[in-house]
Amino acid sequence: MTVYNLGSINIDHVYTMEDFPRPGQTLSADTMVTNLGGKGLNISVALSRAGADVRHIGAVGAGDAQVQTLLAPFGLDLDRVALLDQPTGHAIIYLDANRENQIVIYPGANGAITRGHVEAALADAGPSDWLVMQNETNANQFGLEVARSKGMKVALVVAPFDETMPALMEQVDLVSVNEEELRDFEAATGGSFRDRTDMSFLVTYGAEGAEFVSGGESHRVAAHKVEVADTTGAGDTFFGGFMAHYANGSSVEEALSFASAMAALQVQSMGAAVAIPHRDAVLNFLKG
Ligand code: RIB
Repeated sequence: MTVYNLGSINIDHVYTMEDFPRPGQTLSADTMVTNLGGKGLNISVALSRAGADVRHIGAVGAGDAQVQTLLAPFGLDLDRVALLDQPTGHAIIYLDANRENQIVIYPGANGAITRGHVEAALADAGPSDWLVMQNETNANQFGLEVARSKGMKVALVVAPFDETMPALMEQVDLVSVNEEELRDFEAATGGSFRDRTDMSFLVTYGAEGAEFVSGGESHRVAAHKVEVADTTGAGDTFFGGFMAHYANGSSVEEALSFASAMAALQVQSMGAAVAIPHRDAVLNFLKG
């Protein structure tokens, strides 16, 4: 079983400050660091570090030496990452004293993925494999179509939410949402998500934990109480940790427990992908 992850790769420029700037205000950041991120890439790193067999499908700028340098330490299979005549996607991330964040992304190469690229990337995929997608590339609709033509199962991380999401959510096997995205889905479709027994939801509630709801059944996990340094990429880490186990046939309880511990470790360090822990560290944390 392989998890193919069709998703964004960003260079994250992270600025820390006491308070976010007000409209029209100019302020100096206290620190600035450049990291690798993108919801897609973060999820691939989490899947890989959780023990899944993962193939990232995406795109970066051809000749972008910085992104190649940042990608190298993660040891991911990059054969399906296209080199395009576009800038690599990037994110401007503000982190305030409460470690809340504000993020603006520029899609660049993430927005120029072709159907032909996805077809070639999924050439060896089959019904036992999963395709995972988020909403930071242009490729979700044809990604879904190509995956279905192969008999694959499909999971969608509904971030960032936009008007294309509700229809796509109804066509996949698993959706991952936070509370706000869930409210947007309910507003768009009417009624409670709990009545959608035809769908499977992984819902994250931040410090209040997470819940898996499917076919009228619900499983919950509490969040670990830890000192938070940076929540950027925490949702991506939770999903990757969950998916690595769920897709491999582990119980939902086991998948939730691993994901919760993985995210609890990830938020204790600065950065997105660089802060994602390895499997052994997660298992040690769980042992206490
Ligand atoms: O989910 C966190 C990610 O969102 C960051 O790494 C940033 O690149 C944006 O995609």
